Amino acid sequence: MNYADVVEKRRAINVFDVDRDVPDDVLQQMIELAAKAPSSFNLQPWNVVVLRDAADKARLRSLAWDQPKVTEAPVVFIVLADRDGWKEGHPTVERNWQEMLDAGMMTDDQRDWFLNAAKTLYNWGSEADLAFAAKNAGFFGMGLMYAATSLGLETHPMDGFDHEGVRKEFNIPDNYWIPMLLAVGYLRPGQDVFPPKWRKGYEDIVVAF
Ligand SMILES: Cc1cc2nc3c(=O)[nH]c(=O)nc-3n(C[C@H](O)[C@H](O)[C@H](O)COP(=O)(O)O)c2cc1C
Repeated sequence: MNYADVVEKRRAINVFDVDRDVPDDVLQQMIELAAKAPSSFNLQPWNVVVLRDAADKARLRSLAWDQPKVTEAPVVFIVLADRDGWKEGHPTVERNWQEMLDAGMMTDDQRDWFLNAAKTLYNWGSEADLAFAAKNAGFFGMGLMYAATSLGLETHPMDGFDHEGVRKEFNIPDNYWIPMLLAVGYLRPGQDVFPPKWRKGYEDIVVAF
């Protein structure tokens, strides 16, 4: 499938095959393909909680507007955006720094410059670190959906859920914001997908001020 095929084929699917599981290796491939998404300073402030267990999905469904796809899909992701993912001492920040040193992209004397650049952008209030986390994790989320399509899977993103309820129920630390839940699986056999929905066109999207 080329890129256009993937984009055209991806749909938010409401009806999943309850009898067909997603193999672990396919799920891993999906996540690792999505992780090729770009991110600010390559900080990759995203994580995923993977739910497969029926009882876990039932707990999630009760906090997600009782949407049937939460329990019908074999796998549901709680996608996480890490608001702390730019801070000095954060494991990914330190790994990123070491990787850049090892690759010869940075030298030791540039560490303060590097850390200060992130602070300037993201250390001026809760709006800044939420924006940092949400935009980068959003790209990852999109990557998950396109990767899934390319692997023959179907998905459905959801923000119809009680954010704080889900965070507490699944013991998710409060540095994380949850940009979406993502149901993953296969279309139920015999089920038609709705025709593609309308999209804004070029003229609607391009603006000048
Ligand atoms: C961030 C996000 C949150 C969404 N939340 C829900 C949701 O809670 N429930 C739902 O039925 N659809 C949800 N959708 C699906 C959209 O309604 C759907 O993507 C849109 O109508 C376009 O349809 P398509 O994805 O099939 O092209 C969400 C989509 C996104 C991107």
